[in-house]
Parts: sequence; structure tokens; C-alpha cells
Amino acid sequence: MCGIVGYIGNREAYPIIINGLKRLEYRGYDSAGIALYDGKTIQLCKTKGKVADLEANVEKEICKTGNLGIGHTRWATHGVPNDVNSHPHYSNSGDLVIIHNGIIENYTSIKKELINRGYTFSSDTDTEVLVNLIEDVKKKENVKLGKAVQIALNQVVGAYAIAIFDKNKPDEIVVAKLGSPLAIGIGDDEFFIASDASPFIEFTNNAIYLEDEEMAIIRKGRDIEIRKIKDDSIVAPYVQELQLNLEQIEKGGYDYFMLKEIYEQPSVIKDTFRGRLLADKGIIRLGGLEDYIEKFINADRIIIVACGTSWHAGLVAEYIFEDWARIPVEVEYASEFRYRNPVITEKDVVIAISQSGETADTLAAIKLAKEKGAFVYGICNVVGSTISRATHSGTYTHAGPEIGVASTKAFTTQITVLTMIALKLARVKGTISQSDYMLHLRELDIIPSKVAKALKKNDEIEEIAKVFKDATNFLYLGRGYNFPVALEGALKLKEISYIHAEGYPAAEMKHGPIALIDEQMPIVVIAVNSNHYDKVVSNIQEIKSRKGIIIAVVTEGDTVVRELADYIMEVPNTPETLSPLVTTIPLQLLSYHIALMLDRNVDQPRNLAKAVTVE
Ligand code: G6P
Repeated sequence: MCGIVGYIGNREAYPIIINGLKRLEYRGYDSAGIALYDGKTIQLCKTKGKVADLEANVEKEICKTGNLGIGHTRWATHGVPNDVNSHPHYSNSGDLVIIHNGIIENYTSIKKELINRGYTFSSDTDTEVLVNLIEDVKKKENVKLGKAVQIALNQVVGAYAIAIFDKNKPDEIVVAKLGSPLAIGIGDDEFFIASDASPFIEFTNNAIYLEDEEMAIIRKGRDIEIRKIKDDSIVAPYVQELQLNLEQIEKGGYDYFMLKEIYEQPSVIKDTFRGRLLADKGIIRLGGLEDYIEKFINADRIIIVACGTSWHAGLVAEYIFEDWARIPVEVEYASEFRYRNPVITEKDVVIAISQSGETADTLAAIKLAKEKGAFVYGICNVVGSTISRATHSGTYTHAGPEIGVASTKAFTTQITVLTMIALKLARVKGTISQSDYMLHLRELDIIPSKVAKALKKNDEIEEIAKVFKDATNFLYLGRGYNFPVALEGALKLKEISYIHAEGYPAAEMKHGPIALIDEQMPIVVIAVNSNHYDKVVSNIQEIKSRKGIIIAVVTEGDTVVRELADYIMEVPNTPETLSPLVTTIPLQLLSYHIALMLDRNVDQPRNLAKAVTVE
């Protein structure tokens, strides 16, 4: 994980690096550091804590001058988050300075070898090993920095996005990538380096995304030189025009990104189906799918791989695909899938779901599926991300940047895309009736207004949050399409409030969790109109007889559950198949308010990171 930023040009690097790091803090925020170079002196400052702590230390410790700079915000992998383990790291001579996102897996053996050769280490990090390996190669082979990086990286096993400079070359930064993302912004006589394009969006719209196993030698006033790490061969740069704008990555009047992103859902769901769903005409058109419909329809099964919230969206898809398109679906944690020696054949279609498009386990699962001959379809939010490029085809969710670490709008837009795919396949396959198909198209078309209506209950939900903010355990129950929503609701609460919460299929409650129920236990039950409504009502009765406290998500106008529940959160009536898009809203708001009342950092919960680029 970790976020990296770099600058080389004619401006002062400091503000660019610091603001860039703030935008990348979603990638990790347990320590931060910066190195600035004015051609004479390297100013280096690093600290445990957030970028704001770094800023405060910079004021006290170093000058903020230099037209070259690199910065890092860290999610610790090797070594506890403290000042010493923070990046950047110097090489032993003090000439080379590096920042690194990723893991060097064989660092122990390299470190031993370097210690034998007289190198010393002050941190526990794999990164300090890498910078000294590069230094060692540079000296031994008597080569320049770029060549030394290329040779050294061929000895390394693992994942990395690095930026490194040499004190003796004040006009040059060398970057390289394998596994972790790296974008280079191209300005007028200046270059920006970052884990994604957000740090440089106000300076340039032109960027190069390095591919895996590529490196770039970036020199002020010169053209970028991209090379293959393996054989040092030259690669022609591919400059992309960015679609991001500054407004999208700012809070826009909200106190937190999470709240902004929750409230954006009506508009981003619309963006997700804009131009793709023509409800009146009965048309769904997904560019990435059109050419591959036969592959889906003839597939033996669809395997969905994902992590975290994206995995929950996959679970919702399992219900929709099987229900409408009658294609067997398996939903897998990417991390388990890849290590299980799974049975995959050319007749399988794999759908990889990832907001960031960078999750290491999902990426590894994709590679495995491709090796075994499966067709791999991606559903990503971040345009140009590694997963979006690693898949055979796919659909973007177009939710705009999601910066709050707890995923919200990514979830609902992923479900929107998956719903469109399922409807399209069912239509082509003839497994859905014309009337059902049209009904769902129209219902999907008006979902944004229903989500907006669900958001209007915010104040009532805040009141409920006040009652339960000190609870130590929560149970979330749902059935059918709303079972994954129960999992997602529990995950949201855990992530941002640190209250223990478990999601369960409502009927499974009897096989264990029922033992936890007493008069202290809040139980969130999703009890909206559905085929299972009566069964859910029975589950609520079972909880009541054990004195559990019921907070029910109900359909507007519901009377039965209203009578039984202690608290209710209403959502507009929707077909059960689309209900996750609205039932998830009160659960997001409930978690948000509880976390806020507990004084948690809702955008940057402890120990988490948004893009998990380590396995
Ligand atoms: C991290 C994030 C989650 C996210 C998961 C999968 O754990 O904190 O919000 O759901 O990664 O990420 P992806 O980008 O692949 O959807």
C-alpha cells in the first residue's frame, strides 16, 4: 500500500508533495516523510503519524526549498510505524534517496549479503535494503543511477513502485513499477510522480501510467525515457488524457469524504447507467460486454473474485445472475481463490470486482484465471487502474474518486453495473420475461430518486445512532438479496467505529449467534418487502423472545415489523432484486453517525487503507 509523490521541475516541490500526500493518505496513513533537494543539500524529514504531523515537523526541522522532491505516506508492512521506518530512506553513502510502495519479498537474503559487504541498516524496512542494493550495484558496476536501478530490480522478488534520486544528479528522478501503481504527470518542463493522478490534477491533464516491469528516467528539460526492467529495452511512452477534475477529489462542503460519498450515490448511480440504460426503449448497452455476450451465455459458470466491500457486491450479483440469467455463480475471496489451486477452465468466465483496481489479491486471482484460459471481465472504478488493464474486457462504475477508506458509493455502483449485466444476459438468453425485464429497467432507472429519499432519513438515523453509540456488539441480519447487505452493514460499522459487528443470514442466527442475544444486544434486521418477508418476521419474533433490541430496515408504510421493532429505518419500496441499492443507505448512515459520535476518524480508520496492494 502506501502513497508516493514526486516532483521535478522549476517550482518549489514542497507544496506539491505535501498536498499530493494528503490526497494519497487514503492509501495508508501511519507515517509520512519527504525529501527535498535544491542541488546542494538534501532536506529530509519523516515522522510517525499523518501528513499533518509531517507538516508540523517540517516547519521545525528543515527548509522547504528544492525543485526536486519525493514524499511518502505509509501503511506499514515491514517494521512498526515509527520515525526510523518511515520513508524516504537514504543509502549508506547518503547519495541515494528512495520512496517505495510495495514489498520486497527476498529482502532478508539481500540484506544478509549487503551486511557481509559492510552495509549497515538503521531501519527494519525492506526499502532500506533496496536502496542499498541499488547503491551497491551502482558502485560495483560503475553505472549511472538508471542502469543501477534496472540491474538491482532484476535481483528483487516482490512488488514495488519506487522513486529514487541521486545527490550527484540534481535534475533526475528514476521511477519503476511492478505490482504497485505509478503515474507520471507531464507538464511543461516539469514532471509529477504519484501513485494515482490526484496529486497533480491541477497541474496537468497528461499522464503516463507505467506498466508492470517498466521504469522511467525522468530528467528536467528532457523527454521521459521508459525502459523495460528485464532487458533495458526502450518503450515508447503512451500519454493519456486524464478525466479527473479537482472538484471530484475535494470535500465539497461536507465534513468528511465518507459523508460526501454517501450523499453522492443518487448522482453517481445515474452516472453509472448514463448512456447504458435506455429504460423506455428496453435497451441496456455496455460497451465492454457487447462483444463477449456469447462467452457469458455459454459459460459453465461465472466465478466472481473480489475483496472487502467489492466481495459483498459480488454476493449480491450471485443472487441476481442466478435468478435472472440462470448461470451458476461462485463468489470467491480473491485471497483464498488464488491459493486454493482452484478448478478453472476455458469455459469459465471470471468477473473481478475492485473499486481501486489495484488490490493485490484480486490482481493475482485474475492472473491465475487468465493462465488457466478463463475469460476475465473487470468491474473497476478507477479508470486506467491495473486491474482494468489486466482484464480482457470490463465495465467502469464511473462513481468518481472514492476517498473515504470505508467504501460506500463504490458498492452501490458496482451493484448497478452487475444488475445491468445480469439483465442484459437474461434478456439475450431469454431467461427473463419481457414484462419482468422492462419492469426492472424502469425500476433501475428511478433507483437514484429512491436512494435520495432513503438519504432524507438521515436525522432519524442520527437519533438511533445516539442510542447505540456505546454498544459493544452488533448483529446484522438479512435474507436473500439482503444477506450480503447485512454483511456490508456489519463491515461498515466495524471499519469506522471499531465496534464488533457480525453479519449473518437471518435464518442462520439459530445456529449460533442466537446465543449472543440478550437485552444489551442491538440487532439490525433488514426486513423490507420480499419473498422472505414472513420468514424475517419470524426471525424478529425469535429475537424479541430473547429480549434482543431490534433496529429494523423496513419498507415505507410497513406496519407489521414496525410493531415488533424497537427502532425502524424506512426505505422506499423497490423490487427485492434491487433492494440492496436502498437498504444499504441507512446502514452506511448508521455507521457514519456512530463513528462520528465516538470521535473516530471516519475517513481514515485505524490500521486500514483504501488500496490494499500487498497480499
Ligand atoms: C480495502 C478497502 C475496502 C475495499 C477492499 C477491496 O480493504 O478498505 O473498502 O472494499 O480493500 O478493495 P477494492 O479496491 O479491490 O474494491
